[in-house]
Amino acid sequence: MWYNTILTKKLGIEYPILQGPFGGNLSSVELVSTVSNNGGLGGFGAYTNTPQEIYDIHQQITAATSKPYNLNLWVSDHDIPQSNANAGNAGTVSDEQYEKTKQIFQSHFDEAGIPLPPKPAPFHSRFENQLQVILDIRPKVFSFMFGTLSDSIMDQLRKRGIATVGAATTLDEALALEATGVDAIIASGFEAGGHRPSFLASAESSTTGTFVLTQLIKDKTKTPVIAAGGIATGHGIAAALALGADAAQIGTAFLATDESNALPIHKQMLFSDAAKYTTLSRAFTGRLGRGLTSRIAKEQLGKEHHFLPFPLQTTFMSSLRKAAIEQEKWDMILFWGGQIAPILKHRKAKELMQSLIEETSTYFNDLKKQS
Ligand SMILES: Cc1cc2nc3c(=O)[nH]c(=O)nc-3n(C[C@H](O)[C@H](O)[C@H](O)COP(=O)(O)O)c2cc1C
Repeated sequence: MWYNTILTKKLGIEYPILQGPFGGNLSSVELVSTVSNNGGLGGFGAYTNTPQEIYDIHQQITAATSKPYNLNLWVSDHDIPQSNANAGNAGTVSDEQYEKTKQIFQSHFDEAGIPLPPKPAPFHSRFENQLQVILDIRPKVFSFMFGTLSDSIMDQLRKRGIATVGAATTLDEALALEATGVDAIIASGFEAGGHRPSFLASAESSTTGTFVLTQLIKDKTKTPVIAAGGIATGHGIAAALALGADAAQIGTAFLATDESNALPIHKQMLFSDAAKYTTLSRAFTGRLGRGLTSRIAKEQLGKEHHFLPFPLQTTFMSSLRKAAIEQEKWDMILFWGGQIAPILKHRKAKELMQSLIEETSTYFNDLKKQS
């Protein structure tokens, strides 16, 4: 049967369908448990959560499902140069750099009628503390992006029986992940919604599509592959499996369901004509991510060298985002979403799961009948 793959066995799931984790408070316990309870692998993006919050989330998920699920973190969680620390700006930027960012965004804050924010407070990596909770609570699956894990961390995860899944945007990144012994590699195609998780070359130069990336990783590594980016239907899953993927990860289609933690207007936009146009932008967080094309994303294109490093740019933009939501100025926000959004149909996660399973099954049954 199409749904028995090396990964369904390894991850302890019925169908090779993963719900992509969403960082930045967009995941929900309800979505994760619904997907896992329906035979897939629910995923919770926790990179902005504190260790205590991650612990609580785990408790809530395990109360809602006894099935495996995936907790997700970002290995590299900031781009603030170490040289800033030497210049007395540890975890932040110089006043001079901050002034340049203010100038670039001044007109948007004026338009929203709000003052420019103060220089963001210093940010210090949270990853190590978050990782300690992962080791303590032992989710069945731990996925991560923006990097590889050290031998010692991989060892500790393995000893605790936690399956590891790393994201790659290029073949080089897939090879680097394989060298660390991960259990699966996500082929993260550039069609995908959200951030490009590149870690060896710039995200701008790591824009291989899912179709090619899946085949490259399948051909050049021995590690199971999960195709991600541009998949939202059973036909998409069938195509991914035909290309050699051992599972498919679906983000945007699950983000649009009632169960996700995205704002109602975000979901509405994903089902609207606005979803026909998406763009990769650094303007909203400092890292390159795909969302529905907005006026600010277009106006800020080419000015990237004046943005603050991730995640200080997110902090800088947060009051503007809040004001834009209050004033319903949707063209001032980047609503995350992938290129596949215009064909989304399901608003309930359970219905989406059932439809994915039925459609993929029908596709492979019809193929068998024809042969
Ligand atoms: C809003 C949003 C947030 C995301 N956050 C994360 C994250 O924190 N960690 C991660 O590994 N992937 C993250 N992703 C990627 C998804 O898990 C998934 O791989 C991707 O959305 C698949 O492509 P698709 O959107 O075309 O379905 C995010 C995607 C979106 C749309």
